[in-house]
Amino acid sequence: MSTLVRFMKRTLAVGAVALAAVSLQPGTASAGTAPVVGGTRAAQGEFPFMVRLSMGCGGALYTQQIVLTAAHCVNGSGNNTSITATAGVVDLNSSSAIKVKSTKVLRAPGYNGTGKDWALIKLAKPINLPTLKIAETKAYDNGTFTVAGWGATREGGGQQRYLMKATVPFVSDADCQAAYGGDLVAGEEICAGLLDQGGVDTCQGDSGGPMFRRDNAGAWIQVGIVSWGIGCARPDYPGVYTEVSTFAAQIKSAAASM
Ligand code: ARG
Repeated sequence: MSTLVRFMKRTLAVGAVALAAVSLQPGTASAGTAPVVGGTRAAQGEFPFMVRLSMGCGGALYTQQIVLTAAHCVNGSGNNTSITATAGVVDLNSSSAIKVKSTKVLRAPGYNGTGKDWALIKLAKPINLPTLKIAETKAYDNGTFTVAGWGATREGGGQQRYLMKATVPFVSDADCQAAYGGDLVAGEEICAGLLDQGGVDTCQGDSGGPMFRRDNAGAWIQVGIVSWGIGCARPDYPGVYTEVSTFAAQIKSAAASM
């Protein structure tokens, strides 16, 4: 079982990168499942920090010139001008989309496919939109989270033209381990989903995008990065997200070094 899960995780990661080469066509079968299952359309401007990355992943503006995404969405660290970030629109085909190329990628040090699923992408120029702050403690690693993305809306579904959103409740490490056993890196990952019913989840192509909630002052704060799961929105298989608070200090210093 655990071998199978690891195999699937690798498959999902490769699938996300493979999407980079695939043009965005509604209805095109993607390598995995779709982004945000059981969601609804986000309104223009509702999540202004959301970014779509050309390899087929999501991301969030950590600063106006640095996107926080998943390590499994990138190939490594170094100069990289091959990624295009699209921001400022819910409709990826909109003529008002802001498109900026990458200059550098910094993948989490020590990333080997298990845990540590975060990366930073530096953009060629700043994008004048609100950023999403990250959780620096575990204080917000609970409650109800919002997820958003242009990924599949069902397992095996196509990428979406319009940004979708959904809310999912926190799932404890114990409950998440019941699903994934030793494949969950409990200190580095946080789970969310409807354990009994399923039906709401992120999915393929949502990877790298943020999972976020309101902080005590009412501002959005990022607690997770879409990472992996078995299928999408299946009962008993919650979505697994990078636990941002675990890496907040590293992310901060890495961003300062870019
Ligand atoms: N690995 C996927 C991607 O690359 C994200 C999968 C999220 N799956 C889930 N069931 N929440 O897009």
